[in-house]
Amino acid sequence: MKILVILICPLLVLKINLASGVIHSWTGLHTAATGIKDLPEFVGVNLFDDEVTGYFDSKNNQFEIRQDWVKKLGEKYVEDQTKSFRDFTWKFKENLKIIMIEFNQTGDQGVHTLQQMYGCQWDDEDGATDGYSQYGYDGEDFIKLDLKNTDWVAARPEAEIIKKKWNGGEAKYWKNYLEVQSVEWIKKYARSGKISLERKVPPQVSLLQTDSSSPVVCHATGFYPDKVNISWQKDGQDLHEDVDVGETLPNHDGTFQKRAELNMTSDVWKKNQFTCVVEHKSGDPIHMILTEEKIRTNSAGINVPGIVAGLVVAALVLIAVVVGFVMVVKRRSDYEKARPSPPASVCSDTGSDGSGTSAEPLVT
Ligand SMILES: *[C@@H]1O[C@H](CO)[C@@H](O)[C@H](O)[C@H]1NC(C)=O
Ligand SMILES: *[C@@H]1O[C@H](CO)[C@@H](O)[C@H](O)[C@H]1NC(C)=O
Ligand SMILES: *[C@@H]1O[C@H](CO)[C@@H](O)[C@H](O)[C@H]1NC(C)=O
Repeated sequence: MKILVILICPLLVLKINLASGVIHSWTGLHTAATGIKDLPEFVGVNLFDDEVTGYFDSKNNQFEIRQDWVKKLGEKYVEDQTKSFRDFTWKFKENLKIIMIEFNQTGDQGVHTLQQMYGCQWDDEDGATDGYSQYGYDGEDFIKLDLKNTDWVAARPEAEIIKKKWNGGEAKYWKNYLEVQSVEWIKKYARSGKISLERKVPPQVSLLQTDSSSPVVCHATGFYPDKVNISWQKDGQDLHEDVDVGETLPNHDGTFQKRAELNMTSDVWKKNQFTCVVEHKSGDPIHMILTEEKIRTNSAGINVPGIVAGLVVAALVLIAVVVGFVMVVKRRSDYEKARPSPPASVCSDTGSDGSGTSAEPLVT
């Protein structure tokens, strides 16, 4: 269950942060599993923002693009990804074996999983970045990278031997990867994607009302970037009381929407001039004077915030691809108590390290 939470959290973080700037995230999920009949031994998934952009499993042994816009990255990208995921497959299988030995589980036929989640975030306004890499074993935290100190931190005693192996080259590799390369990749994705960073798309503004007694909603949508000012004026003066300004929410196409509600009955607003003002850097402020003719009815319930649907879709994809079987795994492995007893010598001569220090660089 722990992994389930870990997997979905970054998506929530992304959405919440959107109010302050456009924060893009790149996420890689790797899962090696043993003992599950119909599941590949290794599955790798790439996500950009909340979309699965690429998929690999050890059965097909080929990287597949899952978003049309990623195809712009070309054939070479697919080849490189395939190569790098084949490399991961091998390393994860090796590491899973090592860890099973650590836990004295070599002979057992049960289900075991090793998962890595890593990635970074990038704020396209102030350029701030943040990276992380963490591993889970059988659904529990196992080891994670302390990026500041370039150090792996063991979450369980059984991870100490791996930690010793990885501190040094493996930690430096991931630090460099997460702070430099993966940020370059985020920008590349952002440029290739539907989100063009220099793009400025003006808002479409409309006035909506459910029925004559409900507040008038000034709704701005379809704009990019996300910074917008939306306000109501009464006879040219900014109005703060009786106005409720909503959060900026993402639309599915990478644009944003925001609303400001005027909580006033029509017999009140008919006596003065009320204007909704929308300021966006795509152009001059838009002034929409409130008249009865301009109001569109939204009793059918438009404006379902994109955020809800977006999150549900992302969560479903993740659940289907990765989490679904982790939960199965957890349930099955609950009655297989881990028995820690690390035979050091077995690990130290396997020649396998984490997943990235080899000559084969990780491509995204
Ligand atoms: C709208 O105004 C009415 C009357 O002033 C008030 O009772 C109600 O709480 C307000 N609603 C909102 C959402 O501000
Ligand atoms: C919104 O208002 C603030 C304060 O008046 C201003 O600094 C900012 O430039 C405005 N933003 C836009 C997008 O017009
Ligand atoms: C591994 O587990 C088996 C069965 O419980 C036990 O007999 C054996 O001593 C354990 N080995 C180590 C190295 O702890």
